[in-house]
Amino acid sequence: MTVIDMHAHFVPREWPDLAARFGGADWPGIRHTAPGKAMLLLGEREFRPVHSALWDAGERLAAMDRDGIDIQVLCATPFLFGYQRTPEQALGAARIFNDAALELCAQAAGANAGRLKSLCQVPLQATDAACAELSRCMQAGHSGVQIGNHVGVRNLDDEGIVTFLQHCAAENAAVLVHPWDMMAADRTRQYMMGWTVGMPAETQLAIVSMILGGAFDRLPPSLRICFAHGGGSFAFLLGRLENAWHNRDIARGKSEHPPSHYCDRFSVDSAVFDQRALRLLIEVMGEDRVMLGSDTPFPLGELSVGKLVRESAMTAAGQAKVMGGNAARFFGI
Ligand code: CO
Repeated sequence: MTVIDMHAHFVPREWPDLAARFGGADWPGIRHTAPGKAMLLLGEREFRPVHSALWDAGERLAAMDRDGIDIQVLCATPFLFGYQRTPEQALGAARIFNDAALELCAQAAGANAGRLKSLCQVPLQATDAACAELSRCMQAGHSGVQIGNHVGVRNLDDEGIVTFLQHCAAENAAVLVHPWDMMAADRTRQYMMGWTVGMPAETQLAIVSMILGGAFDRLPPSLRICFAHGGGSFAFLLGRLENAWHNRDIARGKSEHPPSHYCDRFSVDSAVFDQRALRLLIEVMGEDRVMLGSDTPFPLGELSVGKLVRESAMTAAGQAKVMGGNAARFFGI
């Protein structure tokens, strides 16, 4: 069995001064503060302290060996998305981070060759530029794309975003949807509530808007799309959504079928941190549509990658699917 962790993040060790190159203010930056330690910046403002596992391939591979992970699929940290920038600015920055991701993966050489794979990022606010960058990245060796769960007020059923997802299907590019730019920011500033409350709600919102907005009815079934963090609040609240769909016509939106009909159109990762939640997720999504995803190397990720699934009461066959079989099929590995 090949064990695949399909949700992990990186930032490059360094990158150019984006404000100097593209104009505009408050670009993401990085300031190295001590060996193996750095501060991520937004403009001059300190955003988050980070450590070298984010950019050091050797450290990453050592952690994978420790946890019994054969392959890791890494993607950018969402604060690098740049969806609020002009298309030209966002495309320029995306190219820098996409090329850096491939360089990081290429550092896994020799016996480790092929153990690190990457998802690109695209300027999702500009459909044509996003499609072009996706095509370039798939040619260059990326395994798919990570997108944010919304672009400003545009949810994933937005016409331009659906066009981009159709392009992903045509290019055979797997899609990971990651929450970002969380709702109710003014009420979730404390205690990391943006991560513990905002992110699951954003992810649920993304899935619900795709279903009710008719996006899945417009997209080909061949599209491979996965939502991070177990799909956020979706699985637990599917019954509420289903009830609303059946009992209030205004809650049906444009979907041709009840919400539960669409659960076989997408996947989720396993980052739910609780055996009860994992059991519910497997029950709602099926064991073919849950993939090991750790959110490593962040402190809110699974610190011992794969522990939750390995210690679950799933059958050996089911565990093998979740630990790697599903992801191998999803990414064409
Ligand atoms: Co993540």
